[in-house]
Amino acid sequence: MLVVVASRHGATSELGEWICGTLRDGGHQVALTRPVPGADPQGADAVVLGSATYAKRWLGDANSWFAHYREALVERPTWVFDSGMAPRSVGDDVPLGDAVRVVDALGPRGFRHFGGRIDRALLSRAERAIVGALRKPDDDGRSRPEVEAWAREIDLELGGLLTGALGGALGGALGAGAATRDRGAIARD
Ligand SMILES: Cc1cc2nc3c(=O)[nH]c(=O)nc-3n(C[C@H](O)[C@H](O)[C@H](O)COP(=O)(O)O)c2cc1C
Repeated sequence: MLVVVASRHGATSELGEWICGTLRDGGHQVALTRPVPGADPQGADAVVLGSATYAKRWLGDANSWFAHYREALVERPTWVFDSGMAPRSVGDDVPLGDAVRVVDALGPRGFRHFGGRIDRALLSRAERAIVGALRKPDDDGRSRPEVEAWAREIDLELGGLLTGALGGALGGALGAGAATRDRGAIARD
């Protein structure tokens, strides 16, 4: 499966790494990538898409990637997350901002908002001025256990999807066998 994460200063990439680690522990083959034009979801059984939030928007490369691959994404199971430091008046399972558009378009199996990290040492001068004006202290609001718990939910659902698909395929094969035997019986009669 493909985990696609847009990050400017690495905090959201790390969320992607935690998600990938948990999925790999669950036995899945996982590739982690930035939302670059060549990161094609066509070959993936399932996709997790995430972005950091800046000035109330997802990062531009996440929005562009989503717009470009939207049709391929609609055809496969998806999970969506974003990350930020703005206070929220709604639960972490409720999309806001760009996430609303993405969730409305994809109907993902899950959405989650996670806390982010502000570390002035990593920011540009302009960004430092913005967080200074907003009186935002350096802080890390990310919870690795919370992120990994969400990834385990994905792992469980993927397991269920796989079992369902296998069951369907086996059922089809057995059904076809039965039909062949039936036809044989008719022919013998
Ligand atoms: C200049 C600036 C603007 C930000 N704007 C928002 C915002 O509008 N909403 C929000 O929830 N978080 C905002 N954040 C917090 C980031 O989303 C958070 O720091 C995130 O973890 C950054 O992820 P990254 O290191 O992957 O780029 C802002 C941070 C900076 C530095």
